[in-house]
Amino acid sequence: MSVLNGKKILLGVSGGIAAYKTASLVRLFIKAGAHVQVIMTPASKDFVTPLTLSTLSKNPVHSSFFNQDDEDAVWNNHVDLALWADLMLIAPATSNTLSKMTTGNSDNLLVATYLSAKCPVYFAPAMDLDMYKHPSVLSSFTALKSFGNIMIPAESGELASGLSGEGRMAEPENIIAFLEADLESKLPLKGKKILITAGPTYEAIDPVRFIGNHSSGKMGFDLANEAANLGAQVILIAGPTHYKTKNGLVEVINVVSAQDMYDACHEYFNDVDVAIAAAAVADYRPKVVALQKIKKAADEFSIELEKTKDILASLGAIKKNQFLIGFALETENEIENAKLKIQKKNLDLIVLNSLQDEGAGFKKETNKVTFIDQDFKIEPMELKSKESVAVDILNKVVLHFAKS
Ligand code: CTP
Repeated sequence: MSVLNGKKILLGVSGGIAAYKTASLVRLFIKAGAHVQVIMTPASKDFVTPLTLSTLSKNPVHSSFFNQDDEDAVWNNHVDLALWADLMLIAPATSNTLSKMTTGNSDNLLVATYLSAKCPVYFAPAMDLDMYKHPSVLSSFTALKSFGNIMIPAESGELASGLSGEGRMAEPENIIAFLEADLESKLPLKGKKILITAGPTYEAIDPVRFIGNHSSGKMGFDLANEAANLGAQVILIAGPTHYKTKNGLVEVINVVSAQDMYDACHEYFNDVDVAIAAAAVADYRPKVVALQKIKKAADEFSIELEKTKDILASLGAIKKNQFLIGFALETENEIENAKLKIQKKNLDLIVLNSLQDEGAGFKKETNKVTFIDQDFKIEPMELKSKESVAVDILNKVVLHFAKS
């Protein structure tokens, strides 16, 4: 999945012949799963039509401060447009537009929006080879880079003038590759490996029966997707669940029993930077698993159970630098029990679920959690979707690496 998936992209098109290539650029953004809005300078409309770009972007194209054709002359709010965007790309960026960007000459909607943008801004220059080397253009590049804007260098080749040299706008495929590589390199968990456990475990009684629980696995899968979106390499060890990962970069290891989950966790743990135990692991399993289906005979029947291994505690016992997060599901003395679990399992952070909280727990779309860290700092969170809880948990991970 492209890092551009779900991103809100504001494309500013200025008036150079390379503007015709923005049709392909918009298509590639849409294909990557991005949302696109286009702003055109008046001059760019001579090179590509607003209808082309609005059709491809599936959004109206903006080119002036208000819509002249509208009787009510609705104002195009450049501030709203700028704040909507996750990233702004100016392509093609002509020497005229670049110069206006450096001086703040906002006589068109594109430059006014650029000046209001708080998101990362990229620009892909396009001009003739001598213009591209002119000191005035070079000083625009230097100024824009000093503002924190990112230049996507022009490429060499045949130019509209008939000359050949540097100045052609980067090809749309190369612009997309540049953006993807740049965004990926800046993801906060890039280079980190995270192990996550999810779902229930099933403990066999005989070939057709098991002891299980109502865990859906949603919390662990949401954590895995979010961690991968933040650039982490994710190994998700999942008990039986119907959930699928949304992010194709998550490596899923399917297991059934607590022992399978224990073995899989220990296979990967030494190699990871973070482990999050979100699984509802069975605490007990039948001592003996019948090889054949147990037949109905006596009026009463009991199964002798034995303890399973506590996976999280076993990871806590061998951890080196790993940041270890556990969950605690409690029904009484929540905070005290959770604190005991932090110590007993050698955790860095515990995510406490109280079944006394409305909207929290198994088979729910929402969760209400309290964070407790190693120093017993308690942070109660609002009731929110499990996706948002996953974001909060991973923010703690990001913060941990930002501090260390
Ligand atoms: N856990 C685990 N292996 C087990 C049991 C629990 O890894 N055999 C992990 C869970 O994934 C969770 C944490 O330990 O992150 C706490 O689980 P919880 O069920 O709240 O507590 P238990 O340790 O099982 O203790 P109790 O059931 O007595 O509250």
